[in-house]
Amino acid sequence: MTNPLILGIETSCDETGVALVRGHELLFDAVASSMDEHARFGGIIPEVASRAHLEAMIPTIRQALDEAHVDLTDVDAVAVTAGPGLVGPLTIGASAAKALAVAINRPLYGVNHVVGHAAVDQLVHGAFPDRFLSLVVSGGHSSLLLVNDIARDVEELGSTLDDAAGEAFDKVGRLLGLPYPGGPHIDKLAREGDPQAIRFPRALTKGRDKEKHQDDFSFSGLKTSVARWVEARHDQGLEIPLNDVAASFADAVADVLTAKTLAACQRHDVDTLVIGGGFSANSQLRDMAAERCAEAGITLRIPPIRYCTDNGAMIAALGANMVAANVAPSALDIPVDSSMP
Ligand code: KG4
Ligand code: ZN
Repeated sequence: MTNPLILGIETSCDETGVALVRGHELLFDAVASSMDEHARFGGIIPEVASRAHLEAMIPTIRQALDEAHVDLTDVDAVAVTAGPGLVGPLTIGASAAKALAVAINRPLYGVNHVVGHAAVDQLVHGAFPDRFLSLVVSGGHSSLLLVNDIARDVEELGSTLDDAAGEAFDKVGRLLGLPYPGGPHIDKLAREGDPQAIRFPRALTKGRDKEKHQDDFSFSGLKTSVARWVEARHDQGLEIPLNDVAASFADAVADVLTAKTLAACQRHDVDTLVIGGGFSANSQLRDMAAERCAEAGITLRIPPIRYCTDNGAMIAALGANMVAANVAPSALDIPVDSSMP
């Protein structure tokens, strides 16, 4: 099949994403989000997200087809997120994808959401090198991937042992009294603060932990340190210097993420790093990664923010690679897997 048309569907969290990709070209990417409905709960409510996906699914598919000026019957394959993510939301997307695949008699590809975060960069920055590393960071995941072949051979070198990077930001945001999600608010405050003001610990970077977990992350200890520091100031009746706390915390997260990722690049002898996931909007991470990659001679690729947050384009892009690599399609009874490795 030359340049097949792939429809991608993403529903692992709160975004209903539908996109059409032909080869490495993105025709249209439609996203509906239910974040506004979750903000008042201070976190994603799976039931609320599932219902929102159910309502948004067909209109979002319709919008993508209309804007891309293609007919449903022009679609050559349907790709959908099979995991990881929230079971209810994943099930809504998978059901829609299966129904479409059956209706138009085309193959279905159940794909990995985290790998999709890396794959989407191809639509923006062109073909991938033979091997590269990808750091995928969001509210739900913090993973370091060694990509030998995006369609067939992706190895997870490490991941977070507790909170994801965005999740840690959101939790620290809550303890600093910032609105949900706290990540972008901390980023903004941090830009006005001194990153050296408070020395928060860098987890899993020393001693035996360092060897055992060289490619893993851990942010819950850091979050606890911030909480203790803030409590101690409260107890002394002192004001909390929000800018400095935010800057010092953000610096610790960016330091660990970039130091470990660059060490892995060197260990695996790769010269390209792709950063993806909603947390890659973070200025402190972006600045430090740009600086350290330049020093190390590593090409850094970060897609624009709208392709870093969850979207259908990442799933269509990965599906397109699977079709091009002649990967066997998924059976129509494939399950969704909330903790897919
Ligand atoms: O990928 P995403 O939109 O949703 C998930 O799949 O989680 O990522 C959102 C996460 C949230 O935790 C949010 O607070 C965080 O990324 N985030 C940020 C920034 N923008 C988004 N964290 C720090 N700085 C930012 N600028
Ligand atoms: Zn994601």
